Amino acid sequence: MSLLKVENISKSFKTLQVLYNVSLEVKPGERHVIIGPNGAGKTTLFNCITNLLPIDSGSIYLDGKEISKLSPHHLVHLGMSRTFQKNNLFGDLTVEENLHLALVAKKSYRYNIFSPLASRSDIKKETNRILDQWEISSRRHIKVKNLSYGEQRLLEVLLAMASNPKILLLDEPTSGMSPAETAQTSEMIQKLPRSIALVVIEHDMEVVFAIADRITVLHHGEVILSGSPEEVRNNEMVKEIYFGGGAKQHA
Ligand SMILES: Nc1ncnc2c1ncn2[C@@H]1O[C@H](COP(=O)(O)OP(=O)(O)O)[C@@H](O)[C@H]1O
Ligand SMILES: [Mg+2]
Repeated sequence: MSLLKVENISKSFKTLQVLYNVSLEVKPGERHVIIGPNGAGKTTLFNCITNLLPIDSGSIYLDGKEISKLSPHHLVHLGMSRTFQKNNLFGDLTVEENLHLALVAKKSYRYNIFSPLASRSDIKKETNRILDQWEISSRRHIKVKNLSYGEQRLLEVLLAMASNPKILLLDEPTSGMSPAETAQTSEMIQKLPRSIALVVIEHDMEVVFAIADRITVLHHGEVILSGSPEEVRNNEMVKEIYFGGGAKQHA
């Protein structure tokens, strides 16, 4: 059974229709990449899947359960987590504090402004485990606003991982990164455990083909193809629309 099933969803903003009967399926552990030109509707698709925006029609299922009316918060508890195209971190807090807050949110502990952030020993342990696992312990006391842009985007992925999701949606994780940061992010994405399915919006074709098991191509709000990397690479319509005809293709 599919872990995530998007069935014929449509979405308009007033008179502007942005998604037309979009369908896609993601299996457990799959790396599913969404490509398409700017304005194709990719971010809107994520906003609809995570119910930040209500869909006009269609259905969305997670583990066979209809989720299109469930709150974003509820979806996190069902195992769906995401990052945003622009980052969502607390710049004046440290790496450790940002991670701590993400874990607190996951555990639904009541936020208490009078208790020090690191008072819960289980959360502290988990924070340390994640900092060690991703080899960022030495950066823990740095305020997030003082991290490089690439480090901030990586931290965002770690925060989304903190909720222990079954499926993680990453919106252009490499956008605005230097080539070195892009390579590092691609490597990190490839290292994420297969217990997590990934849906990744990505524009860098090297990253796309490095991580994808399956690619969905969105164009003007319509899925024009959903298939293996090979199928996408060899599809004439995709070549024409996305790679600009004779444009160089990445191996
Ligand atoms: N909240 C919104 N209100 C009105 N129009 C929007 C909104 N969000 C996105 N759009 C429009 O929807 C289209 C698709 O945008 P988006 O989903 O961000 O595309 P992509 O992520 O593929 O670049 C664009 O024309 C954009 O201007
Ligand atoms: Mg976008």
